[in-house]
Amino acid sequence: MSSLSVGSTPGSANGLAGALARTAHLYERVKAVIPPIEWPVFASDIDAILRLKRERNAIVLAHNYQTPEIFHCVADIVGDSLVLAREAARVDAAVIVLCGVHFMAETAKLLNPEKTVLIPDLEAGCSLAASITAADVRLLRERYPGVPVVAYVNTSAEVKAESDICCTSGNARAVVESLGVPRVLVLPDEYLARNLAVETGVEIIPWHGRCEVHERFTAAEIRDVRAAHPGITVLAHPECPPEVVAEADYVGSTQAMSDYVGRRRPARVVLLTECSMSDNVSIQHPEVALVRPCNLCPHMKRITLPKIRTALETMRHEVTVDRAVASRARHAVERMLAVKPR
Ligand code: 13P
Ligand code: SF4
Repeated sequence: MSSLSVGSTPGSANGLAGALARTAHLYERVKAVIPPIEWPVFASDIDAILRLKRERNAIVLAHNYQTPEIFHCVADIVGDSLVLAREAARVDAAVIVLCGVHFMAETAKLLNPEKTVLIPDLEAGCSLAASITAADVRLLRERYPGVPVVAYVNTSAEVKAESDICCTSGNARAVVESLGVPRVLVLPDEYLARNLAVETGVEIIPWHGRCEVHERFTAAEIRDVRAAHPGITVLAHPECPPEVVAEADYVGSTQAMSDYVGRRRPARVVLLTECSMSDNVSIQHPEVALVRPCNLCPHMKRITLPKIRTALETMRHEVTVDRAVASRARHAVERMLAVKPR
């Protein structure tokens, strides 16, 4: 691996002026949401990250909730949890930097045991992943013998290892229907499970986990938005409460929502999900007006440009999974990836 030229001197080719010149084309992408006065704060880190990616033979995978300067300026692959898992399985680079939360980095590691997987902040967790342990799953299996366990990808590797198959918001229906049984445990998101029960007609036994971002949306909020913006299209994530989902025009994963906007080009839309989604979608579709009662995910927001730069400079924080856990968890993820999309 080549030695790294970290740091920069203001005024030199490696300094801010050089970084601004080399990143000017990237500013063009994000100028609708990042004021010019803020760009110099980002330019040096973006410039350094692009160089470090080449030097380290690294690739950046970023979730749809990452901020625009990450999503549009340093990411090589962007998407929802399913896209990131699928793409992680195909990555050629030696190093994967996962700009998202810890379970996403763990999934990338499960699919790439020989590669180095870095997460810029080890504390980037998830209220759903934190809501259930492997011991909880073992107890549920005792209570419901023979009932298959579907683990949402928003879980630890230990929980995945105790499960039969994983799912994401992008394929949950296909995964549940692929099992061909009348009764399924779907863990840990209670709302996703209840929404799936309505969608599939399968009896779903839920756990009591909640996404701290999506549980805050209310049906009254949707009615207020519709009253203030007649004709608006309401898109919701399936982690929202069932009464919110019932009032939405369309329900899907973050990627499905983004694709819907690209396909249907509604004049005005509200995305009932994390705030950076609206920024990223508005850059991709400037003709669509985004109305923004959104909620921030504090875990996703732990990932910043300076932390991505440090991750590549120092090769930290490396994500590891215990071997015995990894082989069982990988089986659940690979079984999910083999399910045909609906
Ligand atoms: P998606 O897989 O739909 O991107 O959802 C991930 C997530 O954490 C939503 O809160
Ligand atoms: Fe977890 Fe919710 Fe944040 Fe997604 S938005 S990472 S489900 S807390």
